[in-house]
Amino acid sequence: MTEPAPPVHPDVEKVLIDPAALRQRVRELGREISRDYAGRHPTLLGILKGSVVFLGDLLRCVTVDCSVDFLSVSSYSGRKSSGEVRMLLDLRESAAGKDLIIVEDIMDSGLTLQYLLDSLKARGPRSLEVCALLDKPQCRKNGVTAKYVGFRIADEFVIGYGLDHNEKYRNLPYVGVLKSGK
Ligand code: IMP
Ligand code: MG
Repeated sequence: MTEPAPPVHPDVEKVLIDPAALRQRVRELGREISRDYAGRHPTLLGILKGSVVFLGDLLRCVTVDCSVDFLSVSSYSGRKSSGEVRMLLDLRESAAGKDLIIVEDIMDSGLTLQYLLDSLKARGPRSLEVCALLDKPQCRKNGVTAKYVGFRIADEFVIGYGLDHNEKYRNLPYVGVLKSGK
């Protein structure tokens, strides 16, 4: 049975990744992580707030025992990165000796991830990897890469499936391109 396409928000230029494609790719990422971490107990570190929808779905596709923790950083206002990253909320648990997987919504300039990687590495985890739903490789301002990437996309501002524009559109069940001027 094919599911009906969700209604498209009037501020959306086009749907880039529909719910079925998201579901399938997230399932694959969950399988990859479960295979790579067999016999270990990774901690999935969700970066608030953009990763919450992705993390919620990914978590249910991971079949090894795992933990979840959250971090919040700020570097964005509107469509442009301020370039300055601030830690708004730190981990509850110690990172020392743990197998950490940073779960991010999107890698753009890479500045946020570089900051997070530096900050977490300094705490002595056993391993540290990145799982990003989306990657805009053309926008990178450094050499940061992710071990797990859901989709590589072009340099367009996207919203939905957790991603926002000024705190709006996180609830859309697809990833879409925002109309210009919105
Ligand atoms: P970076 O530091 O430039 O890599 O930006 C990373 C953060 O900026 C992501 O975690 C997102 O929260 C936000 N971001 C970057 N590009 C987009 C986009 O196209 N839509 C919504 N948020 C974005
Ligand atoms: Mg983010």
